[in-house]
Amino acid sequence: MNPAPIGIFDSGVGGLSVAREIRRRLPGEDLLYFADHAFCPYGGRPLEVIRGRSVAVVGELIDRGAKAVVVACNTASGAALETLREEYSVPIVGLEPAVKPAAANSRVGRIGVLATAATLQTARFHRLVQTYGQNVEIFQRASPELVELVEAGEISGESVERLLDRTLAPLREAGIDKLVLGCTHYPFLRDAIQDVMGAEVEVLDSGEAVARQVERVLAGMDALAINDGPGDIRLLTTGDREQVEAIVRRLWTGPIEVQSVDQLRRWGGEPSGSSTT
Ligand code: DGL
Repeated sequence: MNPAPIGIFDSGVGGLSVAREIRRRLPGEDLLYFADHAFCPYGGRPLEVIRGRSVAVVGELIDRGAKAVVVACNTASGAALETLREEYSVPIVGLEPAVKPAAANSRVGRIGVLATAATLQTARFHRLVQTYGQNVEIFQRASPELVELVEAGEISGESVERLLDRTLAPLREAGIDKLVLGCTHYPFLRDAIQDVMGAEVEVLDSGEAVARQVERVLAGMDALAINDGPGDIRLLTTGDREQVEAIVRRLWTGPIEVQSVDQLRRWGGEPSGSSTT
C-alpha cells in the first residue's frame, strides 16, 4: 500500500469532474489537484505550448509526492501523453473522448463529439477516430465558450441554455443518438446539455472509466491507500487563489483546500491575459 496522493491535472477546474469520479471509486485516497489557471483555457493554444505546460505541471505534482498522475484534461492528454510517459517514470493515466463506446452502441450510426479545438486537431484524436469510428459518421464541434462558462461557475440558467442551444444545434440537426463530452469541463454542464439534446440522445463522458483505470493501475502496483476515512483533496492553482476558491466551492461538494503556486506562472509561454491565441 502507498498513502501518497494521486496527482490530477487540468488547465482549470474541469478535471474536478474526473476527481469526483476518482473520489467516488477510491474514497480513501488523498488527491493533489493542479489547475493551470495562468494558461487556461488550453483549447485555443498551440500544441507545443500545451505540451510544455503539461511537462512542467506533472513534474511539479511528482516533486510534491504524487504516486501516479491523472491527466484529467482531454486537450493535455491529446497533446502531451506520450511525452509525459517518456519523461516521467510514475504511472500516467490519460483521457480520451469516449468515441469507442459511443460508436459501438450507436443505433443510427451518427455520433457527436464536443471537444476543444486543440483536442480535435491532435494526432491522438485522429487515431481514435480511425480506429473506432469507421462504421459511424462523426460530427465534431468545438466551443471555447463552454469552458469559460464552467470556469466562471455558471453551469445552469438562461444564458447557459442559450449558448448550449446555439452550440449544439448542428449536432441536434445531424440526428445523432450519442454525444461524447470530449472535455472534462463539460460534465458540469451535463444536465443542461441533456435538456438541449433531448432524452433520446445518450450523453457520455470518460470520468468513470478513468477512475476504474486509476484503481487498476494502483492495485497492480500494490499502491492503493488503505484508508477508512475520506481522503484529503488539495487544489493548487497558478491563478488567483481567492477567485479560484470561489468557483471551486460551487463545483466541489465537501472540504477542499485551495493554494496558489507561483513558481510555474510563466514557464513555457505567455500566461492568459497576455496571450494572443
Ligand atoms: N478540460 C480540458 C479538456 O478536457 C481543457 C479545456 C481548456 O482548457 O480549453 O480538454
